[in-house]
Amino acid sequence: MRLGVLCSGGDAPGMNACLRSVVRAAASDGHDVIGIRRGYEGLMNADFFDSELGVGKMSPRSVSHILERGGTILNSSRCPAFATPEGLKVAADALDRAGVDALIPIGGDGTFRGAVALAEHWKGQIIGCPGTIDNDLLGTDATIGFSTAVATAVDCIDKLRDTAESHERLFLVEVMGRHSGHLALATALAASAEIACVPEEIVDAVAIAARVQELRSLGKQSIIIVVAEGDEQGGAVALNEKLSLADCPYATRTVILGHIQRGGSPTAEDRVLATRLGDFAVRSIVDGATGMMAGETCGHCCLVPLEDTFSTHRPLPEHQIELLDRMSC
Ligand code: F6P
Repeated sequence: MRLGVLCSGGDAPGMNACLRSVVRAAASDGHDVIGIRRGYEGLMNADFFDSELGVGKMSPRSVSHILERGGTILNSSRCPAFATPEGLKVAADALDRAGVDALIPIGGDGTFRGAVALAEHWKGQIIGCPGTIDNDLLGTDATIGFSTAVATAVDCIDKLRDTAESHERLFLVEVMGRHSGHLALATALAASAEIACVPEEIVDAVAIAARVQELRSLGKQSIIIVVAEGDEQGGAVALNEKLSLADCPYATRTVILGHIQRGGSPTAEDRVLATRLGDFAVRSIVDGATGMMAGETCGHCCLVPLEDTFSTHRPLPEHQIELLDRMSC
């Protein structure tokens, strides 16, 4: 068989580990892998990875020592032109011309929406691997990159806490996550933040200001508020303005962590997850599966229809907002 692999959408630490796993699992089973550069945009342009085996072909050696590297050696892109009937047809033709039997797109919800649309124009098999720092896909306990992004944000907040304590300040730290609060909540819990503002739980600025006053009266020297970029408050800067109008008892500073959360060497957890899911995606293709995401729940690899991974909002882990609140007394 000939498998195609690409990374699409926002990159995530562990994408390289997943790519390595796909290439080596396929090679150990005697299958070819064609690396497609720059996501769906690269697919439309037949932009293939070059290796000692020739254009497109990825050998086990071509993925040596990439497991520990952040980003993706295949590059990634967001490509609105792909999601048009013309774009999908161009992409399907490119896959056929390259003799690809099955495609493994590594990415998040946008990547999977693209894969579902592609399936209407292309008869090959498609198995997606979940690669996004947002952890917003259903059907897998974690997405590849989430663990690392949380660890990066926590490391930053630990440093911010030092200076916040010295100056008795309140820091509003904005994290990514798009419309989802998973990254914000996990970061807040792991960094012992006092408050998390997430899109799933709408709390107005007046209530947040009242909680800050309460925490001051409990003797808190410093406060960390983790704000999800998709939160109702409009992000850390907007919330800071609202708090200053509400007579905040601390001097405040805002920090937007931004793309720093997308980089860096993946954690051991992301490396293991990426390795398991890349291998499982290849085995699932060999077994004849298609239209599925390779996920992991409760320690077991599983296949979930691609549509089911993004069609409803993934709820936050139960009780974790209350847990954060209880821990901040
Ligand atoms: O989906 C991953 C993500 O990092 C989101 O958390 C964020 O909203 C978005 O991508 C940023 O995208 P870009 O890199 O295109 O600015």
